[in-house]
Amino acid sequence: MAQIIDGKAVSAAVKAEVAEETAKLRDAKGLKVGLAVVIVGNDPASRVYVNNKKKACEAVGFQSFEYAMEENTTQEQLLDLVNVLNRDDRVNGILVQLPLPKHIDEKAVINAISPDKDVDAFHPINVGKIMIGEYSFLPCTPAGVMRLIESTGTDITGKQCVVIGRSNIVGKPQAMLLLQKNGTVTICHSKTRNLKEICLGADILVVAIGRANFVTGDMIKEGAVVIDVGMNRLDNGKLCGDVEFESAEKKASFITPVPGGVGPMTIAMLMKNTLTAAKQQAG
Ligand code: GUN
Repeated sequence: MAQIIDGKAVSAAVKAEVAEETAKLRDAKGLKVGLAVVIVGNDPASRVYVNNKKKACEAVGFQSFEYAMEENTTQEQLLDLVNVLNRDDRVNGILVQLPLPKHIDEKAVINAISPDKDVDAFHPINVGKIMIGEYSFLPCTPAGVMRLIESTGTDITGKQCVVIGRSNIVGKPQAMLLLQKNGTVTICHSKTRNLKEICLGADILVVAIGRANFVTGDMIKEGAVVIDVGMNRLDNGKLCGDVEFESAEKKASFITPVPGGVGPMTIAMLMKNTLTAAKQQAG
C-alpha cells in the first residue's frame, strides 16, 4: 500500500518558512509584504479560493487587498484597476482570479499585469523565463507538485515522468519543471494513443486532466509516485481527483489524496512567490 503524501503538512511547512522570513524582513528592514487579489463576478468556487488566499496572507503576516468587482465590470475597468495596482507600492503581487466572465479577454488582462508582480507566473515573459530556466516565480500548482515529490525523497534525475494534461497553468509548466530536474518527460493529453502503456512506464505520474477517476490502478507501475492535481465534484457532492484512489494506492509507492494533496500547496507557493516579489522590489 502506498504512503499518503500529506499536502496539508507540506503546505504548513512552506507557509511557516514564509512567515518566518516575512517577520525577519519586517524587523530588519521595515519591509511589509502585500498581495492584491482581484475577483470579478460571483463564481462560488472562485469565492472560496479567494477567501482561502486572504486567510493564508493573514497567517504568514502579509497585507491582503481584495478587489471584488461586479459580474458586468468592463474589460477597460479591470485593466484600469490592474494599472493602478501595478503602480501601488504597497502591492508586491497581483492575482486576478480566473476564470473571468466571458466578455473579458483573459489574455489581455494577464498581459497587463506587471511581470514583476505576476505571482501566478502566467504572463508570457514569466512563461518564457520558465522555458529557459531563469525564473523568479514558478507557477504555483506545478511548483507545489515539485515540492510534494521532493517530500517523498524521490530523486527525479533519469526517471520516466509522465504528465497527463497540457494546460498552460499546470501540464506544460509541470513538464518543464520535471525536465529541469533531469526527468525524462512525456506529456499526454486527450488525443494520446496508448495512454495506458505510457502510464505503465511512469516512475512519476502527474495527472491534471480534469476528469474524475480517469487514471486507474491498472495504469500504474508498481512503486510509482502518483500526484493527482484533479479536483472534481461528483453528482453526490463528493470531491474526487483524476486518479481512482482505491485502486491506485495498491500500486503506487506514494500518492496524494484529494482533497488534502496538491490543493493546499498551490496557496502556499503563492505566498512564497509574493514574498519573492517583495524582496525583489525592495532591491
Ligand atoms: N483559478 C484557478 N486556479 C487559479 C490560479 O492558480 N490562479 C488564478 N489567478 N486563478 C485561478
